[in-house]
Amino acid sequence: MSEMLYEGKAKKIFTTDDEQVVLVQYKDSATAFNGQKKATITGKGRLNNEITSLLFLKLKEQGIDSHFIKRVSETEQLVKKVTIIPLEVVVRNVAAGTLSNRLGIEEGKELSTPLVEFYLKDDALGDPLVTVDHILELKAATVKELEILKNKALEINTILSSFFNELGIRLIDFKLEFGKDNEGQILLADEISPDTCRLWDKETNEKLDKDVFRRDLGSLTEAYETILAKLGGHQHV
Ligand code: C5P
Repeated sequence: MSEMLYEGKAKKIFTTDDEQVVLVQYKDSATAFNGQKKATITGKGRLNNEITSLLFLKLKEQGIDSHFIKRVSETEQLVKKVTIIPLEVVVRNVAAGTLSNRLGIEEGKELSTPLVEFYLKDDALGDPLVTVDHILELKAATVKELEILKNKALEINTILSSFFNELGIRLIDFKLEFGKDNEGQILLADEISPDTCRLWDKETNEKLDKDVFRRDLGSLTEAYETILAKLGGHQHV
């Protein structure tokens, strides 16, 4: 019998018959600003499930292991059970969002080199930006683990930036999460979708990601369908 292990803002996690495998169900809910803005958007779960599956498969082809096993329905995928490291790893190629707000760098300005930032996964604290010393103090990860996370994040950035570039899209920034499997191996986990990336059309700079929802820029599903179509996925329009 399947039992719900966890419900987050965008996904539910269920047990399966295999103790090492869980089922992730993508929800149709959209949230922003640490849950202060909320909506139900029909189709969003299906889109993020398929986009994440395609991107994890692409990364696998390029030698990046993740928790992803397979997509099993429109809104569900099976993944390897991992213990999530309580850090959000953000990579930025172009200034936007909180980087622009925090440091006063104009949105859209190309950064001289990709930046990696760590945020603590803690809803009650609003996922604060943390330094290496903060992470060590909190014992959220070790120095060695942080080095692995940073290197993997930069490697994933190289692969995804060039992949999206071929599709006419600029990968502005994105957030990753990592987990440890039962052998202690660090695997890419969670999702990679327009909910967790900033993706701009290369020609027009049109935003094709969750900023459409955050900033009320139009139809989120149309933007996500555009990304899915470019990735060669199924289209429902
Ligand atoms: O908001 P900020 O500019 O810090 O976001 C950087 C990147 O990380 C964006 O692509 C955003 O979608 C993603 N992000 C996320 N989940 C969070 C915070 C940021 O997916 N909790």
